[in-house]
Amino acid sequence: MSEILNTPVNICVIGSGYVGLVAAVCFAETGHHVVCVDNDEQKVASLCQGKVPIYEKHLDDLLAKHLNKGVHFTTGLHDAVERSEAVFIAVGTPQSSTGSADLSFVEAVVSEIARGINSYKVIVEKSTVPVYTHAWIRRVLSRYGIQDHLFDVVSNPEFLREGTAVVDFLHPDRIVVGAETPKAAEVLGRIYAPLTSGEYYSRPNAIAGPLNVKSPAPILVTSPQSAEIIKHASNSFLALKISFINVVSTICESVGADVDDVAKGMGLDARIGSRFLSAGIGYGGSCFPKDLTAFHNVAQQQGIDFKLLTEVERINEQQKRHFFQKIHSTLWTLRGKKIAALGLAFKGETDDIRDSPGIDIIKMLLEAGSKVSAYDPAAMERSREVLPEEGQLQYVQDEYAAAKGADALLILTHWPQFAKLDLERLKGLLKFPIIIDGRNLYDYKEMHDKGFTYVSVGRPASHSGLETIPRANFV
Ligand code: UGA
Repeated sequence: MSEILNTPVNICVIGSGYVGLVAAVCFAETGHHVVCVDNDEQKVASLCQGKVPIYEKHLDDLLAKHLNKGVHFTTGLHDAVERSEAVFIAVGTPQSSTGSADLSFVEAVVSEIARGINSYKVIVEKSTVPVYTHAWIRRVLSRYGIQDHLFDVVSNPEFLREGTAVVDFLHPDRIVVGAETPKAAEVLGRIYAPLTSGEYYSRPNAIAGPLNVKSPAPILVTSPQSAEIIKHASNSFLALKISFINVVSTICESVGADVDDVAKGMGLDARIGSRFLSAGIGYGGSCFPKDLTAFHNVAQQQGIDFKLLTEVERINEQQKRHFFQKIHSTLWTLRGKKIAALGLAFKGETDDIRDSPGIDIIKMLLEAGSKVSAYDPAAMERSREVLPEEGQLQYVQDEYAAAKGADALLILTHWPQFAKLDLERLKGLLKFPIIIDGRNLYDYKEMHDKGFTYVSVGRPASHSGLETIPRANFV
């Protein structure tokens, strides 16, 4: 039995982005032989030297451990496919002009895979794709003359979060395998056996996480179309939870309630669950905004108007404007004011700034004529590419440099270090002790006692002036 569990599978992963690179390195970590293919020669050359292009915990160490042993990098797709039993497609599926997923990279890769099929292969969709993509992959392979018995297509969606991707991969809530045949399901079963049997968690040097030998990773085998929908529906549902609590937070502000208590009270109901109920400045990133639109499109193509999803998006946009208005009403006027902005990444523990709500808020402030001094522990380099440093915008080396002489300090990203600021030092540096916190990192009562004007999301503001000045209707 343990021999079966430890049988290495020859795997090819196409694409070395967040999903592909993490999958390739983690498959090597669980004991498989992996070749990761990318057509970007520079990226491959740099990966071959052990350089990780993204900010992701554990990834550097795992790559160093497995490079040129369990995992190799190449631009040669044909050879990599020939040598592999399973071929994972993890290329980008960007949003097209209509909002649907652009599958041209997937199609291009599938036509190349066709040339490398010399024996039975399982072709696995790892990228987030709309329902029925598996059927299109099958059709393209057939058009290239590949006989049915030489391949199966499986949908195996990834549920990893940026920043905790490695732990999410090795300690998943579930592994979903949408397989066309028992033969294909068996190959995926072997690939994930170290996690589903618990064997991986018994290793002395296993990456630690919530799962263990007694409670290993659960696997769910479904049809390919169910698996494809599970991915889109899961991301859409999580975004819905966030938008829901964000509207609740606005109600809390109006009636003097505390959204954190409300979320806690709701989350204790096991049917609701406490996760993804943190009110803030809206969700961002490369997945939720894109996947929500794509899923709406999928529904539309089936003649179903999934209006709920458009509402989720509308609320998300509104939440950013609402936060901006909060800054406006706290500072009265914005032109010429200096604002310290902590956080550029779309969330903590990542350098990713795609669809970052914090960046949108900084843009609104710059448009309103404010000067912004911005700091992020990891995302400043990427941020400079979309928001170049100029007269009104300055990037600084830490939180305290940002605060120096500022009229107010904003917290825009949930970085753990922003929850542990030296408040006395900040008070000495800020022009006025005003903190506007879009992530609810501090206790508002304590902030009041410490002498701050502290405005957060869905909780009473500790600014005595606010009670007497009527607030505009921001929604
Ligand atoms: C998301 C999903 O959580 C993953 O399961 C999925 O695999 C991934 O998309 C994907 O499809 O690739 P990710 O985009 O890395 O992962 O980020 P999340 O941790 O989900 O956060 C998304 C956004 O929601 C962030 O801007 C975060 O600040 C915000 N958020 C999250 C809230 O505002 N409140 C919450 O309670 C939770």
